[in-house]
Amino acid sequence: MLDNVEVKLDDRSYTIHIGTDLLQETGAFISPLLRRRKIAVVTDENVASLHLNCLKSSLSSEGIKVSTLILPAGESTKSWMHAQKTVEWLLAEHIERDDIVVAFGGGVIGDLVGFAASILRRGVRFVQIPTSLLAQVDSSVGGKTGINSPQGKNLIGAFYQPQMVLADINILGTLSSRDFLAGYGEVVKYGLLGDFKFFEWLEQNAPAMASGDIEKRIYAVKRSCEMKANIVARDEKERGDRALLNLGHTFGHALEAATGFSDRLLHGEGVSIGCALAFETSMRLGLCSQEAPSRVRKHLKEMGMKADLSDIIGELPDENVLIDLMGQDKKVLDGKLTFIMARGIGDTFVSHNVELDIVRDILREALI
Ligand code: GLY
Repeated sequence: MLDNVEVKLDDRSYTIHIGTDLLQETGAFISPLLRRRKIAVVTDENVASLHLNCLKSSLSSEGIKVSTLILPAGESTKSWMHAQKTVEWLLAEHIERDDIVVAFGGGVIGDLVGFAASILRRGVRFVQIPTSLLAQVDSSVGGKTGINSPQGKNLIGAFYQPQMVLADINILGTLSSRDFLAGYGEVVKYGLLGDFKFFEWLEQNAPAMASGDIEKRIYAVKRSCEMKANIVARDEKERGDRALLNLGHTFGHALEAATGFSDRLLHGEGVSIGCALAFETSMRLGLCSQEAPSRVRKHLKEMGMKADLSDIIGELPDENVLIDLMGQDKKVLDGKLTFIMARGIGDTFVSHNVELDIVRDILREALI
């Protein structure tokens, strides 16, 4: 089974291939891109132990010489230290501009390796092979690359598009249910931000998809990638519509920061709670009906997702601290916070005018 989505960006256009058993076919997919039979793969310890042998044998069977760098798994790898390590390793491997670097992992590896590729020799080509649901539907697509600073998440980076994305749906079968559902936070976001019919489809089909239905997984990843590809084609550098992809993220990032970017709250879980809060805020502002936030929360709850602040284990700071943490967001414009507000499910817009007092009230009530 194979589906393709095109990301149309003039001379930076590329294809996202979505299907089963693509890992075994990687050599055949990548071969036409190579100018010489040599490739560098960067991955993490978890992905390496599960999938690296399969990837290597597929590349070797096409006569491609493979070098690999295996980094520690986890958010702390998205650092200057590991970016430097990756770049120095690629230089030591004599990776040239026309070679291909493969980012083989979840969002951390994709962001870090994409960033390393963007600065190495002023830009070396790279391919994304995302191994988490979150990376397949979001972080591997659209060219946002980067690392974290002690001052905040993703504050250092570049827009740098890959040559190709290979999303092997079988790999999702090795994810824990918590990681799968965290990725689902980004999937449901697409329905909420711009496709009511997709949201309805998810209401009907997401439970089967989460239980392992491959055709439904392919459809959900494909529809998510189509929506992202469309938005990125319109606004690659996030001057306008691309900000819609941040639905739930202003709330979510503050909650991630409040929980120390730790296992207490995964990124997609923060997005899920953030989407519920964004709809609640929209309703309080009279932008959408009362039914919309209830329907969003109902679906998230039915999927076993986090939807409320009380779903986060342990203490949270008060509403004023959470609002201050929102101020650290990259999307602050002239000191004003950016929120994605909803007129209804599938109908959202970017707003810089949300009254912070209303947000403060909503957070205070949600914290009780
Ligand atoms: N993850 C949001 C974006 O790529 O713009």
